[in-house]
Amino acid sequence: MKRGRLATLSCLSAAHCALCALCLSCAPATPTEAEPGESDTLDLERMIRQKRYAPYEPSELFHDGAVMRHPPEGTVPNDRVTGDPGLTRGVAGGAYVAHIPVPVTLELIRYGQGRFEIFCAACHGIAGDGESEVARNMTQRRPPSLVDARVQAFPPGRIYQTIVEGYGLMRSYEPQIPLRERWAIVAYVKALGRSRAAALDALPQPLQERARKELP
Ligand code: HEC
Repeated sequence: MKRGRLATLSCLSAAHCALCALCLSCAPATPTEAEPGESDTLDLERMIRQKRYAPYEPSELFHDGAVMRHPPEGTVPNDRVTGDPGLTRGVAGGAYVAHIPVPVTLELIRYGQGRFEIFCAACHGIAGDGESEVARNMTQRRPPSLVDARVQAFPPGRIYQTIVEGYGLMRSYEPQIPLRERWAIVAYVKALGRSRAAALDALPQPLQERARKELP
């Protein structure tokens, strides 16, 4: 419809029309009725200005007189997190979960290491001790060590929740890190803590023997 109007405008001069007789845009304009308030200029906003309802407006179209509709019963939002809240939020029955609710394997911890180094180490340090370039320059509130006694005493659910919801100056990593990866990171943070100042006799027997042989 706009093409027709443009063509009408540009074909006002006969000379121009002779020049562009083969030009498709000069095909005879189809008469169209202008909407009220519509100008003759090239209109790029006609979807915005067309007749439509704004949210919350009344409408006679629907029996309840409201333009906004409820989703059909039983509709589930595609971003709703479902499942055991201990697993999905790290909190169950008002308390942080005290055990990592997925099987902790060496593979999971190694996977967590990779994710930790991508998402957390820039601030908390590659060893989790809070030593990083960002921390040195973050004067307001430094990213804390994750291997000191304070954070290591946190139940796994609290570390998990920090990843999901953020904490103070730390943003949420919920959109970037899916559920399984979050628990893998939690497992790795716990492992990092264990790896610091571990008592020799707390190690399993074969590791104790190896440590005695290899460590000075
Ligand atoms: C951009 C820097 C940054 C990144 C990346 C980051 N953190 Fe933090 N984190 C912080 C800061 C800053 C604080 C302290 C926030 C405060 O006290 O206001 C913090 C605090 C924490 C705490 C302590 C929360 C508490 O209850 O005291 C934990 C646990 C934690 N981060 C874990 C993580 C994990 C796990 C990751 C990776 C998924 C991560 N952080 C990524 C900056 C960061």
